[in-house]
Amino acid sequence: MAAAGATATEGWSSRWGFILAATGSAVGLGNLWRFPSQAGENGGGAFVIFYIICVVLIGLPVLLSETLIGRHGKGDAIESTKVVARDSGASTAWSALAGIGMLGAFLILTFYSVIAGWVLYYIGLFAGDVVSSVQNGAVLGGAFQGQSLEQIQDHLPALFANNPLMLGMHALFMAITVYVVARGVHGGIEKIAVYLMPTFFLLLIGITIYSLATGAAGEALGFLFAFDPARLLKPDVMLAALGQAFFSLSLGSAMMITYGAYADRKTNLASTSTIIAAADTSVAIIAGLAIFPIVFAAGLAVDSGPTLMFQTLPASFQTMPAGSFIGFLFFLMVFFAALTSSVALLEAPTAWVMKRFNLARGVATVLLGGIAFAIGILSALSFNLLADWHPLNFSIFEGQNFFDITDTLTGKILLPLSALLVAVFVGWIADKRLTDHENGISGGLHQTWRFLVAWLCPLAVGAILVYGLLG
Ligand code: TRP
Repeated sequence: MAAAGATATEGWSSRWGFILAATGSAVGLGNLWRFPSQAGENGGGAFVIFYIICVVLIGLPVLLSETLIGRHGKGDAIESTKVVARDSGASTAWSALAGIGMLGAFLILTFYSVIAGWVLYYIGLFAGDVVSSVQNGAVLGGAFQGQSLEQIQDHLPALFANNPLMLGMHALFMAITVYVVARGVHGGIEKIAVYLMPTFFLLLIGITIYSLATGAAGEALGFLFAFDPARLLKPDVMLAALGQAFFSLSLGSAMMITYGAYADRKTNLASTSTIIAAADTSVAIIAGLAIFPIVFAAGLAVDSGPTLMFQTLPASFQTMPAGSFIGFLFFLMVFFAALTSSVALLEAPTAWVMKRFNLARGVATVLLGGIAFAIGILSALSFNLLADWHPLNFSIFEGQNFFDITDTLTGKILLPLSALLVAVFVGWIADKRLTDHENGISGGLHQTWRFLVAWLCPLAVGAILVYGLLG
């Protein structure tokens, strides 16, 4: 297999380095914050089942396609796609799929850092509460003793009312992200993944056991897994599940192409992709098992949506033993997951900018991180000063503030469009030679994968696009 042109000079030190970094990118706010809120809003069981079907039949084939493009092209996402197109005798204009994905990743980074900034604030909030519970000799009691439910839930609006604090947290999170990416693929991204991901898994398992043991486990299990066929076939539930699967697996955002380029030729990408998808999906479901028993035990609403993690959950910790300590660990865990994702969001455009403008890694990361921070300010202010600013007040953006627009533009347009192009490109355009001699993809598995990429994926992703644009 001739890979003309680009050569990625950086790379993972081992297959496990790749698996941990890619899983770190996939596991993030999407699993811990977005999945439970989506499952809660879409009625639980039906959403969860359909989500798993989407991951297996649509997400996994696209994930494998993206890593294959990267590994064949061995460059930044755009360069890699051009190499594959050239080697297949197709137009290099197909690299637009990577350009769209890269723009999507960059825009996600702008608001991801704002929300991760809230997470940093909540780490501080719970840390303060741990200290005061120790002083009061009530470490084993619940969180926020002496505060009413409203007072606990008011911590979020109080943060929104304090711009220096909110922007400071956003700046801090972005600075940490820039620092890690500036240190390189091996010395920065892989290194934090190797330390943070195992720690993350231990925290997740520990908190989940605590939650199932002390919370309303039965209710949570019933909610997450109860099979209600009537809800299963609802188009909006199906599309929400598919959109969530894409976001969670970091597809359509040039990311898996970028990380695939750092994998060596011997890596079995079929099994590696399967491990990544399985880990990401398990984390989403386990996160549900960690969060819902606590919320059910407190008798609060599970369908509170995006504020579930920042208002409902902290309030729920009030009735749990050692609530402030566990709450502190919970938000620390969310921070670890968010950081291993934000570095991936920054790495995709960084790799391209370094090559395109011939910039040193440090310069490229500071530049891109700075611009992403500046744009993110508009998203942060969407929660106060700019809440009623509707810069694109037409069609699907009608009535949306800057934060909502960025979320809609990426989730409903850029990511699905990029993923759709990936599926069509790999399923129909890329030369069979590119995918036929890959280790781990042969026989029936190969046939099935090709069929899914060529037929099911374009249809399903096309449906999200059309439905998203009309709805
Ligand atoms: N998968 C990430 C999460 O679950 C979000 C995400 C989407 C992402 N696209 C990405 C992360 C690209 C890194 C790179 O939170």
